[in-house]
Amino acid sequence: MADRILTAEMIDAIKAFIPRYPSKQAVTLPALHIVNEHLRHVPLQAVVEIAEILELHPAQVQDTLSFYGYFKQDKPAGRCRVWVCRSISCALRGADQLLAHLSDTLHLQPGETTPDGRITLEYAECLGACEHAPCILANNDLHKSVSSEQADELVKSIA
Ligand code: FES
Repeated sequence: MADRILTAEMIDAIKAFIPRYPSKQAVTLPALHIVNEHLRHVPLQAVVEIAEILELHPAQVQDTLSFYGYFKQDKPAGRCRVWVCRSISCALRGADQLLAHLSDTLHLQPGETTPDGRITLEYAECLGACEHAPCILANNDLHKSVSSEQADELVKSIA
């Protein structure tokens, strides 16, 4: 049997959602976020344990996880996920070049993480700030009208 991966804290946090939702299945997405916040990914063993708590089949939890491109499963994301928007407004204002620039600077392809675990480079769909294109979301911080130089400063500032 695989080692248990969810801590008591994660289990309690997931269970705390159950009375607030119409069904246990509806807690799947919050549960995935809770695990992701702690582990920066949601490995298969976590899927199995979430399913146990919510009295679901693991495939049901896995279906939800794989529907959202957000969750990583094979290994943890970096401490900071740097999302470069590539939707239409940002694309028209140089997002592809910005992403390519960061890719060169960090020696990463989108989806990859720096060897020190500091940064995962990602592309995002519209971040909801099209009038300030191109935009980057770094964890929860939105950066607007980002130039290559500002992107360099941003990644340097990430600890
Ligand atoms: S298209 Fe990039 S924020 Fe909307």
